[in-house]
Amino acid sequence: MRADILGAVREAIALKGDSPSALIPVLQHIQGRLGYLPREALIEVSRRLGVPLSRVYGVATFYHQFSLTPPAPFTIYVCMGTACHLRGNAENYELLRRLLKIKPGTNVSADGLFKLEKARCFGCCSLAPVIKVNEDLYGRVSAQEIRRIVSRYRALARRLRALPPARRHV
Ligand code: FES
Repeated sequence: MRADILGAVREAIALKGDSPSALIPVLQHIQGRLGYLPREALIEVSRRLGVPLSRVYGVATFYHQFSLTPPAPFTIYVCMGTACHLRGNAENYELLRRLLKIKPGTNVSADGLFKLEKARCFGCCSLAPVIKVNEDLYGRVSAQEIRRIVSRYRALARRLRALPPARRHV
């Protein structure tokens, strides 16, 4: 098991206890530490708390606060303020959904790298239409520029995956 996962499980149990009634607080702590609940963590929690794995999975999938998949490293915020909306961000949002192969009813790309969010005015309307990727702001974006931006972050993700986990800060 990965050291960070084992560390999160140990810490959660040290803080919240190892009785079956501690299941939800333990899962909350692990989720807070790792950003999601890896399968190995659920197996270890089941073993240490003496709770059947099916029940651990049942709880982990029932509550919206829990996620079984790692968080996307990049969030793309598309400004839907009036200026950006009028200058093409409604179309840009749909383009991004297609480029990222986001399924209906979800907002995460098929490759798990991007989360797509609509946002309110960023306060730089003169640059409309504006999008943000994490904290990086891009103004006057065209469809072509959006394709370039997505390619750039995909390439960055490939480089990050080549790094050891401790150095993968975006
Ligand atoms: S409307 Fe988009 S930045 Fe203001």
